Amino acid sequence: MREFDAVIFDLDGVICYTDEYHYQAWKAMADSIGVYFDREINNRLRGVSRMASLEIVLERAERKFSQAEKEVLADQKNELYKKLLANMSPSELSDEVKSTLDELRGRGYLLAIGSSSKNAPFILRQIGLGDYFDAVSDGNNITHSKPDPEVFVKAAEMLSLPAERCLVVEDAVSGAEAAHRGGMQAACVGDASRAGAGDYNMKSVKDLLEIL
Ligand code: BG6
Ligand code: MG
Repeated sequence: MREFDAVIFDLDGVICYTDEYHYQAWKAMADSIGVYFDREINNRLRGVSRMASLEIVLERAERKFSQAEKEVLADQKNELYKKLLANMSPSELSDEVKSTLDELRGRGYLLAIGSSSKNAPFILRQIGLGDYFDAVSDGNNITHSKPDPEVFVKAAEMLSLPAERCLVVEDAVSGAEAAHRGGMQAACVGDASRAGAGDYNMKSVKDLLEIL
């Protein structure tokens, strides 16, 4: 008998690469208020919600910002980010990721998204996967961001499956932790894989075809 019935994919850093767009948008926002920001700080924002990301960006600020000011700054970043996302196209979905998804579906696995991003539906449409997944759990249907397990627990619920039947695919250590706290195993790529955060630490997404 197989171990899993579904695979829940993180979006940013697993299905597509929006790091550079996040970087450019946060950098422009930080520059506009004179706060230092670099790629190393940007790496700390992986898997973290928009408002929690803003708190990390503002660690370097010389003054405190009110909640209302923070909302404005987060909106400013998001407007810039959406402009960059608007230029994304299906060419930003790699053949490797698409063929892995298709092969897993062909093997009978349910496929879902579990992303902290409120822009997830937009990004999925941009890369041609708008109607592809059996369930999309994202920043719009959660109140707690990774490493809280909520986004993955909701994805499993949408699929009507118990947690242990779902394998999570993540690039962020916070995402692997979220999977574990939700009672799921994690197969990791990127940062999380290098940190050994997964039950499976892969070189690339196509290694899933050996695991499943
Ligand atoms: C995650 C990204 O997928 O989404 C984070 O890894 C980002 O870097 C988070 O902050 C929230 O994204 P958004 O699109 O809702 O601002
Ligand atoms: Mg990610």
